[in-house]
Amino acid sequence: MVIAGELLDRLMPFHCLLDPVAEFRALLDAFAGTPARSFLEIGTHRGATSAAIALVFPAARIVTVDLPDSLRTVWNPLPRAEVGAAHRALGVQSRVEQLFMDSSELWRLAARGEAFDMIFVDADHSSEAVFRDLILAADLLTGPTAFLLVHDYTGADESGRPSWTIGVQQAVDRFLGVRPFRKRRLAGLMLLLEPTWTSSAFPEWSTPA
Ligand SMILES: C[S@@+](CC[C@H](N)C(=O)[O-])C[C@H]1O[C@@H](n2cnc3c(N)ncnc32)[C@H](O)[C@@H]1O
Repeated sequence: MVIAGELLDRLMPFHCLLDPVAEFRALLDAFAGTPARSFLEIGTHRGATSAAIALVFPAARIVTVDLPDSLRTVWNPLPRAEVGAAHRALGVQSRVEQLFMDSSELWRLAARGEAFDMIFVDADHSSEAVFRDLILAADLLTGPTAFLLVHDYTGADESGRPSWTIGVQQAVDRFLGVRPFRKRRLAGLMLLLEPTWTSSAFPEWSTPA
């Protein structure tokens, strides 16, 4: 998917990506490979990623989650007033449901029957928190055509790895040991986790018409 230069220019002041051109394209391509009806982002920050999805997929439902007090984290702390700033700057705030909750409470969304075609896991990057977010997010997927997308992943054998990617890799390895997903490396620090089951194995999870 080609991302317009003008859109990229507007997103630049707000993003947290390593290689924004390649990573935004990978993220938008990944979402285009799903039914693209619903997107959940765990870790909103300034909202560049959710704003990009909102602009490129005008019919999609978009939900983002960040802490009630977004200064109480070591992972990109930000004053609450700046959380979701990109949504406002790019005029998509009415398209984005911005939730203020700890991602450890994501089970509340599952309890309400919510489900998403793609879930972007990009909040607390400690191994324990990413593992927990992956387990909770896996229960929020619409079915076998849905994906988890993890940011800040590097492989254990890569040289010069940024320190903040190590917990993410450890959590992914642990997750893959207990859930039926396979990993596919995308551009930059993006990692797709796709289900290995089929809808015939889980008929109740057949893709919605
Ligand atoms: C790396 S930034 C997210 C960047 C954003 N996804 C983007 O693409 O622009 C991490 C965010 O996760 C939030 N965060 C940290 N721990 C969290 C938790 N337990 N639950 C929800 N959000 C959390 C931080 O407040 C911060 O805004």
